[in-house]
Amino acid sequence: MNIELELKNETPHFAKPMLADSPYKVLNLYACLGGNRVLWTDCKVTAIENDAEIARLYQERFPNDTVIVGDAHQYLLDHYKEFDFIWSSPPCPTHSRARYWGFGINGKNPVYPDFKLYEEIILLQHHFKGKFCVENVIAYYEPLIPAQKRGRHLYWCNFILPNILTNRDNSGALNQKSVMKDLINFHNYDFNKYEGTQRILKIARNLVDYEAGKTIFATAMGIFEKSNLKQISMFDEVT
Ligand SMILES: C[S@@+](CC[C@H](N)C(=O)[O-])C[C@H]1O[C@@H](n2cnc3c(N)ncnc32)[C@H](O)[C@@H]1O
Repeated sequence: MNIELELKNETPHFAKPMLADSPYKVLNLYACLGGNRVLWTDCKVTAIENDAEIARLYQERFPNDTVIVGDAHQYLLDHYKEFDFIWSSPPCPTHSRARYWGFGINGKNPVYPDFKLYEEIILLQHHFKGKFCVENVIAYYEPLIPAQKRGRHLYWCNFILPNILTNRDNSGALNQKSVMKDLINFHNYDFNKYEGTQRILKIARNLVDYEAGKTIFATAMGIFEKSNLKQISMFDEVT
């Protein structure tokens, strides 16, 4: 198994030149079971997840990824320069309308919205040279940094997303009676394998639709490919 149990304190270095024939280095923060990552190809993925049992299952699902059990927020700060594309899915409950409206087990107790979400967006917007996508639910307040709204999610990216990210319909997962079965079908993953301490339904609801994950990833890769082509044609002109 490829799970590193402690964060490595490596000296950060700048991302490699983005060449078409070398796989892109991708950081998948708050990786969960990699719903977003299912259809990513031609890349080398490092995934960060702090629940060791989820990390074990992620590694089983994506054996070629490097999986690190640790704090995604700190990992981003220490390592962002090493990647071409960064995806971050910070936990959403403190921003969610469901919690604000009083649903769920913590519904009646207000908490501060977790501003690590905005810390990461600001860091990436101002310091990161590659492409990024930070994903969260639609908040109960006006987002402090403008986002692109698609379906039931907000995305903060340094590129424009297509208007439609997915044509898959997960409305079945709203049916209380069959919700678990529907989520298993929708994500094509048996969440009952999980043997940790989090609620299985909560985990199953966390996953991004793999088709949306693919569209966003392909959009970022398309921008890289275009800029590589430009660089190659400029090089051809001067030689
Ligand atoms: C919203 S889910 C991410 C869903 C994921 N993008 C997907 O599509 O499958 C958030 C995940 O972050 C994990 N997590 C929460 N806090 C974390 C932290 N500080 N560092 C790393 N992982 C964390 C949770 O255990 C959960 O699996």
